[in-house]
Amino acid sequence: MKINGQHYRTIWLAQDGWRVVVIDQTRLPFRFETVALGSAEQAADAIRNMVVRGAPLIGATAAYGVALAMRSDASGTALEAALALLGATRPTAVNLRWALERMRRVLVPLAPAARADAAYAEATAICDEDVALCRSIGEHGLPLLREAAARKPAGQPVNILTHCNAGWIATVDWGTALAPIYLAHDAGIPVHVWVDETRPRNQGAALTAYELGAHGVPHTVIVDNAGGHLMQRGQVDLVIVGTDRTTAHGDVANKIGTYLKALAADDNGVPFYVALPSPTIDWTIRDGLADIPIEERAGREVTHVAGPAEDGEIHAVRVVAPGSAVANPAFDVTPARLVTGLITERGVCAASSEGLAGLFPDLARGVAA
Ligand code: MRU
Repeated sequence: MKINGQHYRTIWLAQDGWRVVVIDQTRLPFRFETVALGSAEQAADAIRNMVVRGAPLIGATAAYGVALAMRSDASGTALEAALALLGATRPTAVNLRWALERMRRVLVPLAPAARADAAYAEATAICDEDVALCRSIGEHGLPLLREAAARKPAGQPVNILTHCNAGWIATVDWGTALAPIYLAHDAGIPVHVWVDETRPRNQGAALTAYELGAHGVPHTVIVDNAGGHLMQRGQVDLVIVGTDRTTAHGDVANKIGTYLKALAADDNGVPFYVALPSPTIDWTIRDGLADIPIEERAGREVTHVAGPAEDGEIHAVRVVAPGSAVANPAFDVTPARLVTGLITERGVCAASSEGLAGLFPDLARGVAA
C-alpha cells in the first residue's frame, strides 16, 4: 500500500541484503520510522514489544528472525534455539507457530552450510505468499460489500465496523479485514468505516485510522463502547474483523472486545464476518474457549496511554487511579455461532468444521470430527 505516494510492504530486506527492515508500529501514526533487525534476538524483541504486530506480520517477522539466526550460526542447536526464542514471543497468533514450523521443515534436512540461503528464500516466500493470500481475501470479500451497497439507497455508503487493526500494517500487504474495503473503495463502491479505537493499545485509533486515511477511505474513529449503540440505530451494515487464531470448528480469537461486537451484531441482525488467510487456522483444535491461549500483557498498557505531547515527543500519561489493580487480557474468543462467515483466500464459508473443510479439504485432512 502507499504512504505519501510511495509503495511499501511492512517488511523487506535492507540494502545490505541481509538485515530485515520493518516499520516501527509503536511510533505510528505520529512518526513513520523504520528499524533494521540484525539478529533473531532483535526480531524476537520487535514481535514482543509490538514494533511489528498482527498475526501474519508476526509470522513473517519470525521467519526472517530464523534466517538472521542461520546467518550467524547455522548449527542444529542454533536453529532450535532460534525457533524456541521466536516461538515464545506471543502466544495467541498461530501464524507464528505456522511460520516457525515451516522454517523448521525446510531447514532441518539441509546441511548447515545451505541453511542461511534457504532460510532467507523461505522467509521471502512466506511474505510473497501472504501478499497473494490477502489480495485474494479482498477479492472474495468484495462481493459482500457490492451486495451491501446494492441494498443501500443510491449514493449512501456501506458502513463497515472493524475492531483493532487487520489492515496492510498487520500483514505484509493489503491486510485481511481491510482488503475487501480497499478493493471496494478502489472500485468506486462508497464505503465508510467505523474504527473502534481498541484500548488498551489503540490499534484502531492509531493504525487502522492511519492506513485508511493514507488510502483516502472515509472513516470515523469511535470509542470501543459505541458499536452497539450504532448497530441499534441501523448505522452499521456489516462488521469485518481479523483473527489471530481460528479453530477447525470456526471459533475465532481476535483482539479483546471482538466478542462483545459479535454479541451486539447478533442482537441487531448485523452480519459479522471474519477475514483470515489459511495460516491463521489452527487445525489441531476445535474449542476456541478451551484451547486458544490468551496472551496477558503488561498492566502498564492499561494504566497508561501514549501520544505526542506539545513538545512533539511521544509520552505516556497515566489514566488509572494509582494503586488500583489492573488486568490486561489481549484477546478474546468469539464462538463460531456468532460468526456469519469466514472470508478466506479460497472464498467465503460458514464458520463451522464443514465450512472450513469444504474450502480446505487438503488442510483439514485428519482433523478430528
Ligand atoms: O495485538 P495485535 O495488535 O497483534 O492484535 C492484532 C489483531 O488482533 C488482528 O485483528 C489480528 O492479528 C489479525 S491481523 C490481519
